[in-house]
Amino acid sequence: MENIHNYKIITITHKQIQLKKIGRYVLPNVDTPEAMGDHLHALKEQLGLSELMYLSTCNRVTFLFTCSAPITAFFKDRFFDTVYDYLTEEEKVEGKDSAGFYEGREAIQHLLEVASSTDSLVVGEREILRQLRTSYEQCRTLGTTGDSIRLILDTAIEVAKYVYSNTKIGEKPISVVSLAIQRMLMHGIPNDAHFLIVGAGQTNNLVAKFLIKHQFSNFTVFNRTLSRAQDLAHRLDAKAHQLEDLADYKGKVDVIIACTGATEHIITPELYHHLVGEDRSKKVLLDLAVPNNIDPKIAELNDNVRYIEIEHLQFLAKQNMSFRKKEMLKAKKIIAYELNSFIKKFEERQLEKALHEIPQQIKAIKGHAVGNVFKKELNGLDQNTLELVTRMMDYMEKRCISIPMEVAKTQLVHKGSKRQAMSKRAKQRILRQLITDNNNEAV
Ligand SMILES: NC(=O)c1ccc[n+]([C@@H]2O[C@H](COP(=O)([O-])OP(=O)(O)OC[C@H]3O[C@@H](n4cnc5c(N)ncnc54)[C@H](OP(=O)(O)O)[C@@H]3O)[C@@H](O)[C@H]2O)c1
Repeated sequence: MENIHNYKIITITHKQIQLKKIGRYVLPNVDTPEAMGDHLHALKEQLGLSELMYLSTCNRVTFLFTCSAPITAFFKDRFFDTVYDYLTEEEKVEGKDSAGFYEGREAIQHLLEVASSTDSLVVGEREILRQLRTSYEQCRTLGTTGDSIRLILDTAIEVAKYVYSNTKIGEKPISVVSLAIQRMLMHGIPNDAHFLIVGAGQTNNLVAKFLIKHQFSNFTVFNRTLSRAQDLAHRLDAKAHQLEDLADYKGKVDVIIACTGATEHIITPELYHHLVGEDRSKKVLLDLAVPNNIDPKIAELNDNVRYIEIEHLQFLAKQNMSFRKKEMLKAKKIIAYELNSFIKKFEERQLEKALHEIPQQIKAIKGHAVGNVFKKELNGLDQNTLELVTRMMDYMEKRCISIPMEVAKTQLVHKGSKRQAMSKRAKQRILRQLITDNNNEAV
Protein backbone atom coordinates (compact mmCIF):
# COMPACT_ATOMS: atom_id res chain seq x y z
CA MET A 1 0.00 0.00 0.00
CA GLU A 2 1.25 3.50 -0.82
CA ASN A 3 2.09 5.80 2.04
CA ILE A 4 1.93 9.60 2.10
CA HIS A 5 5.70 9.62 2.87
CA ASN A 6 6.32 7.97 -0.49
CA TYR A 7 5.70 11.28 -2.31
CA LYS A 8 9.05 12.94 -3.07
CA ILE A 9 10.20 15.99 -5.01
CA ILE A 10 13.73 16.90 -6.01
CA THR A 11 13.85 20.27 -7.69
CA ILE A 12 16.22 23.00 -8.78
CA THR A 13 14.56 26.38 -9.18
CA HIS A 14 15.20 30.10 -9.58
CA LYS A 15 14.95 30.38 -5.79
CA GLN A 16 18.11 28.38 -5.19
CA ILE A 17 20.30 28.94 -8.23
CA GLN A 18 20.91 31.53 -10.96
CA LEU A 19 18.46 31.02 -13.82
CA LYS A 20 21.18 30.57 -16.38
CA LYS A 21 22.58 27.65 -14.38
CA ILE A 22 19.22 25.82 -14.32
CA GLY A 23 19.76 24.92 -17.96
CA ARG A 24 22.52 22.50 -16.95
CA TYR A 25 20.03 20.39 -15.06
CA VAL A 26 17.49 20.15 -17.91
CA LEU A 27 17.67 16.58 -19.22
CA PRO A 28 19.38 16.59 -22.62
CA ASN A 29 18.33 14.51 -25.65
CA VAL A 30 14.75 13.90 -24.51
CA ASP A 31 13.07 16.08 -27.11
CA THR A 32 10.99 13.28 -28.62
CA PRO A 33 8.37 11.31 -26.66
CA GLU A 34 10.24 8.04 -27.39
CA ALA A 35 13.55 9.41 -26.05
CA MET A 36 11.79 10.87 -23.00
CA GLY A 37 9.98 7.58 -22.34
CA ASP A 38 13.14 5.47 -22.59
CA HIS A 39 15.05 7.85 -20.37
CA LEU A 40 12.42 8.18 -17.62
CA HIS A 41 11.77 4.41 -17.53
CA ALA A 42 15.51 3.79 -17.21
CA LEU A 43 15.79 6.32 -14.35
CA LYS A 44 12.82 4.73 -12.58
CA GLU A 45 14.46 1.36 -12.72
CA GLN A 46 17.94 2.51 -11.74
CA LEU A 47 16.64 4.50 -8.77
CA GLY A 48 13.94 2.04 -7.67
CA LEU A 49 11.07 4.53 -8.08
CA SER A 50 7.43 3.44 -8.32
CA GLU A 51 6.24 6.48 -10.30
CA LEU A 52 8.07 9.40 -11.90
CA MET A 53 7.11 12.70 -13.49
CA TYR A 54 9.57 15.20 -14.95
CA LEU A 55 8.88 18.92 -15.41
CA SER A 56 11.18 21.44 -16.99
CA THR A 57 10.24 25.13 -17.34
CA CYS A 58 12.28 28.28 -17.73
CA ASN A 59 12.73 28.57 -13.96
CA ARG A 60 12.61 25.03 -12.63
CA VAL A 61 13.61 21.44 -13.19
CA THR A 62 11.47 19.14 -11.08
CA PHE A 63 11.33 15.40 -10.47
CA LEU A 64 8.12 14.30 -8.74
CA PHE A 65 8.24 10.64 -7.79
CA THR A 66 7.06 8.02 -5.36
CA CYS A 67 9.24 5.47 -3.60
CA SER A 68 9.43 4.00 -0.12
CA ALA A 69 13.12 4.82 0.43
CA PRO A 70 13.68 8.06 2.37
CA ILE A 71 15.79 10.85 0.87
CA THR A 72 19.04 10.32 2.76
CA ALA A 73 22.48 11.67 1.87
CA PHE A 74 23.11 8.35 0.13
CA PHE A 75 19.89 8.67 -1.88
CA LYS A 76 20.83 12.22 -2.94
CA ASP A 77 24.26 11.05 -4.14
CA ARG A 78 22.75 8.15 -6.04
CA PHE A 79 20.09 10.41 -7.58
CA PHE A 80 22.61 12.99 -8.85
CA ASP A 81 25.09 10.34 -10.00
CA THR A 82 22.36 8.57 -11.96
CA VAL A 83 20.34 11.46 -13.37
CA TYR A 84 23.32 13.71 -14.06
CA ASP A 85 26.01 11.19 -14.97
CA TYR A 86 27.07 13.53 -17.82
CA LEU A 87 27.87 16.48 -15.49
CA THR A 88 31.21 17.18 -13.81
CA GLU A 89 31.59 16.33 -10.10
CA GLU A 90 31.57 20.07 -9.34
CA GLU A 91 28.28 20.61 -11.19
CA LYS A 92 26.70 17.62 -9.45
CA VAL A 93 27.76 18.99 -6.05
CA GLU A 94 26.41 22.45 -6.91
CA GLY A 95 23.14 20.87 -8.05
CA LYS A 96 22.86 18.85 -4.85
CA ASP A 97 23.68 21.85 -2.65
CA SER A 98 21.12 24.04 -4.41
CA ALA A 99 18.33 21.52 -4.86
CA GLY A 100 15.16 21.43 -2.82
CA PHE A 101 14.34 18.00 -1.37
CA TYR A 102 10.79 17.43 -0.22
CA GLU A 103 9.13 14.34 1.22
CA GLY A 104 5.56 13.43 2.18
CA ARG A 105 3.50 16.38 3.36
CA GLU A 106 6.18 18.88 2.32
CA ALA A 107 6.33 17.44 -1.19
CA ILE A 108 2.55 17.72 -1.57
CA GLN A 109 2.60 21.29 -0.25
CA HIS A 110 5.40 22.20 -2.65
CA LEU A 111 3.48 20.83 -5.63
CA LEU A 112 0.34 22.77 -4.63
CA GLU A 113 2.43 25.94 -4.36
CA VAL A 114 4.04 25.35 -7.76
CA ALA A 115 0.67 24.74 -9.44
CA SER A 116 -0.85 27.83 -7.82
CA SER A 117 2.10 29.86 -9.04
CA THR A 118 3.10 31.07 -5.58
CA ASP A 119 6.55 29.54 -6.13
CA SER A 120 6.99 30.99 -9.64
CA LEU A 121 9.51 33.52 -10.84
CA VAL A 122 6.54 35.57 -11.99
CA VAL A 123 4.05 34.99 -9.18
CA GLY A 124 0.50 34.63 -10.50
CA GLU A 125 1.34 33.55 -14.06
CA ARG A 126 -0.87 30.71 -15.18
CA GLU A 127 1.59 29.30 -17.68
CA ILE A 128 2.89 26.94 -14.99
CA LEU A 129 -0.48 25.21 -14.82
CA ARG A 130 -0.35 24.48 -18.56
CA GLN A 131 3.24 23.25 -18.22
CA LEU A 132 2.33 20.98 -15.29
CA ARG A 133 -0.61 19.51 -17.17
CA THR A 134 1.44 18.98 -20.34
CA SER A 135 4.26 17.27 -18.44
CA TYR A 136 1.85 15.09 -16.51
CA GLU A 137 -0.05 14.09 -19.67
CA GLN A 138 3.22 13.23 -21.37
CA CYS A 139 4.48 11.11 -18.45
CA ARG A 140 1.08 9.43 -18.03
CA THR A 141 1.03 8.51 -21.72
CA LEU A 142 4.60 7.22 -21.46
CA GLY A 143 3.52 5.06 -18.52
CA THR A 144 5.95 6.47 -15.95
CA THR A 145 3.22 7.68 -13.56
CA GLY A 146 0.41 5.79 -11.83
CA ASP A 147 -2.41 6.26 -9.35
CA SER A 148 -0.50 8.25 -6.70
CA ILE A 149 0.79 10.93 -9.08
CA ARG A 150 -2.62 11.07 -10.80
CA LEU A 151 -4.23 11.73 -7.42
CA ILE A 152 -1.86 14.54 -6.42
CA LEU A 153 -1.87 16.14 -9.90
CA ASP A 154 -5.70 16.20 -9.99
CA THR A 155 -5.67 17.90 -6.61
CA ALA A 156 -2.92 20.35 -7.54
CA ILE A 157 -4.82 21.46 -10.65
CA GLU A 158 -8.08 21.80 -8.73
CA VAL A 159 -6.40 23.81 -5.95
CA ALA A 160 -4.59 26.06 -8.44
CA LYS A 161 -7.87 26.87 -10.20
CA TYR A 162 -9.45 27.62 -6.84
CA VAL A 163 -6.58 29.93 -5.89
CA TYR A 164 -6.70 31.75 -9.25
CA SER A 165 -10.42 32.33 -9.02
CA ASN A 166 -10.64 33.23 -5.32
CA THR A 167 -7.62 35.50 -4.92
CA LYS A 168 -6.20 38.30 -7.05
CA ILE A 169 -2.95 36.43 -7.55
CA GLY A 170 -3.44 36.20 -11.31
CA GLU A 171 -5.09 39.59 -11.73
CA LYS A 172 -3.71 41.79 -14.52
CA PRO A 173 -1.77 38.73 -15.60
CA ILE A 174 1.84 39.00 -16.51
CA SER A 175 4.18 36.27 -17.64
CA VAL A 176 7.87 35.69 -18.24
CA VAL A 177 7.16 36.51 -21.87
CA SER A 178 5.44 39.82 -21.11
CA LEU A 179 8.37 40.82 -18.85
CA ALA A 180 10.81 39.91 -21.62
CA ILE A 181 8.90 42.02 -24.13
CA GLN A 182 8.80 44.95 -21.66
CA ARG A 183 12.56 44.65 -21.34
CA MET A 184 13.05 44.40 -25.09
CA LEU A 185 10.94 47.52 -25.71
CA MET A 186 13.29 49.49 -23.44
CA HIS A 187 15.78 49.34 -26.32
CA GLY A 188 13.57 51.55 -28.51
CA ILE A 189 13.13 49.13 -31.39
CA PRO A 190 11.51 50.84 -34.43
CA ASN A 191 8.28 49.35 -35.78
CA ASP A 192 9.88 48.46 -39.10
CA ALA A 193 12.68 46.45 -37.42
CA HIS A 194 13.22 42.97 -38.82
CA PHE A 195 12.76 40.07 -36.40
CA LEU A 196 14.19 36.59 -36.77
CA ILE A 197 12.05 34.26 -34.69
CA VAL A 198 13.75 30.96 -33.88
CA GLY A 199 11.35 28.29 -32.55
CA ALA A 200 7.61 28.01 -32.99
CA GLY A 201 6.48 26.45 -29.71
CA GLN A 202 3.97 27.72 -27.13
CA THR A 203 6.32 30.43 -25.86
CA ASN A 204 7.12 32.00 -29.23
CA ASN A 205 3.43 31.87 -30.08
CA LEU A 206 2.84 33.97 -26.97
CA VAL A 207 5.72 36.24 -27.99
CA ALA A 208 3.98 36.69 -31.36
CA LYS A 209 0.85 38.02 -29.65
CA PHE A 210 2.88 40.77 -27.97
CA LEU A 211 4.78 41.62 -31.17
CA ILE A 212 1.51 42.07 -33.04
CA LYS A 213 0.10 44.14 -30.16
CA HIS A 214 3.14 46.44 -30.30
CA GLN A 215 2.69 46.81 -34.07
CA PHE A 216 5.86 45.19 -35.30
CA SER A 217 5.42 43.77 -38.76
CA ASN A 218 8.59 42.29 -40.30
CA PHE A 219 9.27 38.73 -39.29
CA THR A 220 10.93 35.55 -40.52
CA VAL A 221 10.25 32.34 -38.62
CA PHE A 222 12.62 29.36 -38.36
CA ASN A 223 11.66 26.12 -36.67
CA ARG A 224 12.83 22.50 -36.65
CA THR A 225 9.43 21.34 -37.90
CA LEU A 226 8.42 23.38 -40.94
CA SER A 227 4.66 23.01 -40.45
CA ARG A 228 4.83 24.64 -37.00
CA ALA A 229 6.99 27.44 -38.43
CA GLN A 230 4.32 27.92 -41.09
CA ASP A 231 1.51 28.09 -38.51
CA LEU A 232 3.33 30.80 -36.57
CA ALA A 233 4.38 32.63 -39.75
CA HIS A 234 0.77 32.64 -40.89
CA ARG A 235 -0.24 34.49 -37.72
CA LEU A 236 2.59 36.99 -38.22
CA ASP A 237 2.12 37.35 -41.97
CA ALA A 238 5.73 36.22 -42.32
CA LYS A 239 7.90 33.72 -44.18
CA ALA A 240 8.60 30.30 -42.65
CA HIS A 241 11.73 28.18 -42.97
CA GLN A 242 13.19 25.04 -41.54
CA LEU A 243 15.72 25.64 -38.75
CA GLU A 244 18.51 23.94 -40.71
CA ASP A 245 18.19 26.68 -43.37
CA LEU A 246 19.00 29.46 -40.90
CA ALA A 247 22.64 29.54 -42.03
CA ASP A 248 21.45 30.37 -45.57
CA TYR A 249 19.37 33.37 -44.46
CA LYS A 250 20.38 36.48 -46.38
CA GLY A 251 17.79 39.05 -45.23
CA LYS A 252 18.02 41.91 -42.74
CA VAL A 253 18.31 41.25 -38.99
CA ASP A 254 17.58 43.75 -36.21
CA VAL A 255 16.20 41.51 -33.50
CA ILE A 256 16.63 37.79 -32.90
CA ILE A 257 14.17 36.06 -30.58
CA ALA A 258 15.16 32.48 -29.81
CA CYS A 259 13.13 30.04 -27.77
CA THR A 260 13.34 26.31 -28.38
CA GLY A 261 13.76 23.18 -26.31
CA ALA A 262 17.27 22.61 -27.74
CA THR A 263 19.84 22.02 -25.00
CA GLU A 264 22.69 23.47 -27.05
CA HIS A 265 23.32 26.93 -28.53
CA ILE A 266 21.56 27.43 -31.85
CA ILE A 267 22.88 30.94 -32.49
CA THR A 268 26.63 30.52 -32.17
CA PRO A 269 29.09 33.42 -32.70
CA GLU A 270 29.91 32.00 -36.17
CA LEU A 271 26.27 31.80 -37.21
CA TYR A 272 25.62 35.27 -35.81
CA HIS A 273 28.43 36.82 -37.85
CA HIS A 274 27.19 35.04 -40.91
CA LEU A 275 23.66 36.41 -40.31
CA VAL A 276 24.64 40.07 -39.74
CA GLY A 277 27.69 40.24 -42.00
CA GLU A 278 29.23 43.74 -41.95
CA ASP A 279 26.11 45.36 -40.49
CA ARG A 280 27.21 47.23 -37.31
CA SER A 281 23.82 48.74 -36.39
CA LYS A 282 22.28 47.96 -33.00
CA LYS A 283 21.01 44.39 -32.62
CA VAL A 284 18.76 43.08 -29.87
CA LEU A 285 18.98 39.41 -29.00
CA LEU A 286 16.23 37.99 -26.82
CA ASP A 287 16.92 34.50 -25.51
CA LEU A 288 13.94 32.98 -23.73
CA ALA A 289 15.20 29.42 -23.69
CA VAL A 290 16.54 27.51 -20.70
CA PRO A 291 19.25 26.44 -21.33
CA ASN A 292 20.25 29.35 -23.59
CA ASN A 293 19.76 29.10 -27.34
CA ILE A 294 21.95 32.14 -28.04
CA ASP A 295 25.60 31.94 -27.05
CA PRO A 296 26.16 34.82 -24.54
CA LYS A 297 29.68 35.24 -26.00
CA ILE A 298 28.08 37.07 -28.95
CA ALA A 299 27.26 40.02 -26.66
CA GLU A 300 30.80 40.02 -25.20
CA LEU A 301 32.33 40.11 -28.69
CA ASN A 302 30.07 42.84 -30.16
CA ASP A 303 29.40 46.14 -28.38
CA ASN A 304 26.42 46.92 -30.63
CA VAL A 305 24.57 43.86 -29.30
CA ARG A 306 21.95 44.15 -26.54
CA TYR A 307 21.48 40.71 -25.10
CA ILE A 308 18.45 39.88 -22.95
CA GLU A 309 18.09 36.52 -21.27
CA ILE A 310 15.65 35.28 -18.66
CA GLU A 311 18.20 35.99 -15.93
CA HIS A 312 17.79 39.74 -16.62
CA LEU A 313 14.09 39.58 -15.87
CA GLN A 314 14.50 38.82 -12.19
CA PHE A 315 14.37 42.47 -11.15
CA LEU A 316 11.09 43.05 -12.99
CA ALA A 317 9.80 39.78 -11.53
CA LYS A 318 10.56 41.00 -7.99
CA GLN A 319 8.50 44.17 -8.55
CA ASN A 320 5.60 41.96 -9.65
CA MET A 321 6.05 39.86 -6.53
CA SER A 322 5.65 42.80 -4.15
CA PHE A 323 2.30 43.67 -5.79
CA ARG A 324 1.08 40.13 -5.24
CA LYS A 325 2.43 39.60 -1.72
CA LYS A 326 -0.95 39.93 0.03
CA GLU A 327 -2.56 37.59 -2.47
CA MET A 328 0.25 35.08 -1.87
CA LEU A 329 -0.68 34.98 1.82
CA LYS A 330 -4.28 34.24 0.91
CA ALA A 331 -3.20 31.56 -1.53
CA LYS A 332 -0.99 29.97 1.14
CA LYS A 333 -3.94 29.75 3.53
CA ILE A 334 -5.98 27.97 0.89
CA ILE A 335 -3.07 25.63 0.17
CA ALA A 336 -2.65 24.80 3.88
CA TYR A 337 -6.31 23.88 4.08
CA GLU A 338 -6.25 21.84 0.87
CA LEU A 339 -3.13 20.02 1.98
CA ASN A 340 -4.97 18.54 4.97
CA SER A 341 -7.94 17.65 2.74
CA PHE A 342 -5.64 15.86 0.32
CA ILE A 343 -4.04 13.78 3.06
CA LYS A 344 -7.49 12.54 4.14
CA LYS A 345 -8.45 11.89 0.51
CA PHE A 346 -5.23 9.96 -0.02
CA GLU A 347 -5.83 7.75 3.04
CA GLU A 348 -9.36 6.99 1.84
CA ARG A 349 -8.01 6.08 -1.57
CA GLN A 350 -5.53 3.65 0.01
CA LEU A 351 -8.38 2.02 1.96
CA GLU A 352 -10.39 1.74 -1.25
CA LYS A 353 -7.43 0.09 -2.96
CA ALA A 354 -6.92 -2.29 -0.04
CA LEU A 355 -10.58 -3.28 -0.25
CA HIS A 356 -10.11 -4.23 -3.87
CA GLU A 357 -7.56 -6.77 -2.75
CA ILE A 358 -9.86 -8.52 -0.26
CA PRO A 359 -11.64 -10.80 -2.80
CA GLN A 360 -8.35 -12.01 -4.29
CA GLN A 361 -6.88 -12.60 -0.84
CA ILE A 362 -9.88 -14.64 0.34
CA LYS A 363 -9.88 -16.62 -2.90
CA ALA A 364 -6.19 -17.32 -2.38
CA ILE A 365 -6.83 -18.53 1.21
CA LYS A 366 -9.58 -20.88 -0.07
CA GLY A 367 -7.28 -22.17 -2.82
CA HIS A 368 -4.53 -22.81 -0.29
CA ALA A 369 -6.92 -24.65 2.05
CA VAL A 370 -8.25 -26.88 -0.75
CA GLY A 371 -4.97 -27.44 -2.56
CA ASN A 372 -2.63 -27.80 0.44
CA VAL A 373 -3.91 -27.72 4.04
CA PHE A 374 -6.93 -30.09 3.66
CA LYS A 375 -5.89 -31.75 0.41
CA LYS A 376 -5.54 -35.23 1.92
CA GLU A 377 -8.87 -35.12 3.81
CA LEU A 378 -10.76 -33.80 0.78
CA ASN A 379 -9.34 -36.54 -1.44
CA GLY A 380 -10.80 -39.11 0.97
CA LEU A 381 -14.39 -37.75 0.69
CA ASP A 382 -17.11 -39.28 -1.50
CA GLN A 383 -18.54 -37.22 -4.39
CA ASN A 384 -21.66 -35.97 -2.55
CA THR A 385 -19.79 -34.85 0.56
CA LEU A 386 -17.14 -33.18 -1.57
CA GLU A 387 -19.82 -31.23 -3.46
CA LEU A 388 -21.41 -30.15 -0.18
CA VAL A 389 -18.06 -29.01 1.27
CA THR A 390 -17.29 -27.09 -1.93
CA ARG A 391 -20.70 -25.38 -1.87
CA MET A 392 -20.19 -24.46 1.81
CA MET A 393 -16.75 -23.04 1.07
CA ASP A 394 -18.09 -20.98 -1.86
CA TYR A 395 -20.82 -19.65 0.39
CA MET A 396 -18.32 -18.74 3.13
CA GLU A 397 -16.06 -17.08 0.55
CA LYS A 398 -18.87 -14.84 -0.68
CA ARG A 399 -19.89 -13.91 2.88
CA CYS A 400 -16.30 -13.27 3.94
CA ILE A 401 -15.87 -10.92 1.01
CA SER A 402 -19.13 -9.06 1.41
CA ILE A 403 -19.06 -8.32 5.16
CA PRO A 404 -15.83 -6.23 5.37
CA MET A 405 -16.58 -4.63 1.98
CA GLU A 406 -20.00 -3.44 3.15
CA VAL A 407 -18.70 -2.13 6.48
CA ALA A 408 -15.76 -0.32 4.89
CA LYS A 409 -17.87 1.10 2.05
CA THR A 410 -20.36 2.55 4.51
CA GLN A 411 -17.44 4.09 6.39
CA LEU A 412 -15.94 5.52 3.18
CA VAL A 413 -19.20 6.97 1.87
CA HIS A 414 -19.90 8.48 5.28
CA LYS A 415 -16.41 9.92 5.59
CA GLY A 416 -16.40 11.14 1.97
CA SER A 417 -19.70 12.99 2.18
CA LYS A 418 -18.75 14.40 5.57
CA ARG A 419 -15.47 15.57 4.09
CA GLN A 420 -17.18 17.19 1.12
CA ALA A 421 -19.70 19.00 3.29
CA MET A 422 -16.93 20.06 5.68
CA SER A 423 -14.76 21.12 2.81
CA LYS A 424 -17.43 23.42 1.37
CA ARG A 425 -18.13 24.99 4.72
CA ALA A 426 -14.45 25.36 5.56
CA LYS A 427 -13.65 26.81 2.13
CA GLN A 428 -16.39 29.39 2.53
CA ARG A 429 -15.04 30.28 5.93
CA ILE A 430 -11.55 30.74 4.55
CA LEU A 431 -12.94 32.79 1.68
CA ARG A 432 -14.80 35.08 4.06
CA GLN A 433 -11.58 35.65 5.97
CA LEU A 434 -9.74 36.43 2.76
CA ILE A 435 -12.43 38.74 1.44
CA THR A 436 -12.47 40.81 4.64
CA ASP A 437 -8.84 41.49 3.90
CA ASN A 438 -9.65 44.25 1.41
CA ASN A 439 -6.76 44.51 -0.96
CA ASN A 440 -7.49 46.87 -3.81
CA GLU A 441 -3.90 47.46 -4.74
CA ALA A 442 -3.37 48.22 -8.44
CA VAL A 443 -0.41 47.36 -10.66
N1 LIG B 1 6.37 28.55 -21.42
C1 LIG B 1 6.92 29.59 -20.83
O1 LIG B 1 6.31 30.41 -20.13
C2 LIG B 1 8.34 29.88 -21.06
C3 LIG B 1 8.80 31.12 -20.72
C4 LIG B 1 10.11 31.40 -20.94
C5 LIG B 1 10.92 30.43 -21.47
N2 LIG B 1 10.47 29.19 -21.77
C6 LIG B 1 11.41 28.24 -22.35
O2 LIG B 1 11.13 28.15 -23.72
C7 LIG B 1 11.64 26.95 -24.28
C8 LIG B 1 10.60 26.33 -25.18
O3 LIG B 1 9.39 26.27 -24.45
P1 LIG B 1 7.97 26.15 -25.17
O4 LIG B 1 6.98 26.34 -24.04
O5 LIG B 1 7.86 27.02 -26.35
O6 LIG B 1 8.00 24.61 -25.58
P2 LIG B 1 7.18 23.85 -26.74
O7 LIG B 1 5.85 24.45 -26.95
O8 LIG B 1 7.30 22.42 -26.38
O9 LIG B 1 8.04 24.11 -28.05
C9 LIG B 1 9.35 23.67 -28.16
C10 LIG B 1 10.00 24.35 -29.35
O10 LIG B 1 11.37 24.02 -29.34
C11 LIG B 1 11.69 23.31 -30.56
N3 LIG B 1 12.69 22.29 -30.24
C12 LIG B 1 12.61 21.34 -29.27
N4 LIG B 1 13.75 20.63 -29.24
C13 LIG B 1 14.55 21.14 -30.20
C14 LIG B 1 15.87 20.82 -30.65
N5 LIG B 1 16.59 19.84 -30.09
N6 LIG B 1 16.39 21.57 -31.66
C15 LIG B 1 15.70 22.57 -32.22
N7 LIG B 1 14.44 22.91 -31.85
C16 LIG B 1 13.89 22.20 -30.84
C17 LIG B 1 10.37 22.73 -31.02
O11 LIG B 1 10.45 22.44 -32.39
P3 LIG B 1 9.42 21.43 -33.11
O12 LIG B 1 8.24 22.25 -33.49
O13 LIG B 1 10.18 20.91 -34.24
O14 LIG B 1 9.10 20.36 -32.08
C18 LIG B 1 9.45 23.89 -30.69
O15 LIG B 1 9.58 24.95 -31.59
C19 LIG B 1 12.08 26.14 -23.07
O16 LIG B 1 13.47 26.29 -22.92
C20 LIG B 1 11.38 26.83 -21.90
O17 LIG B 1 12.06 26.65 -20.69
C21 LIG B 1 9.18 28.90 -21.62
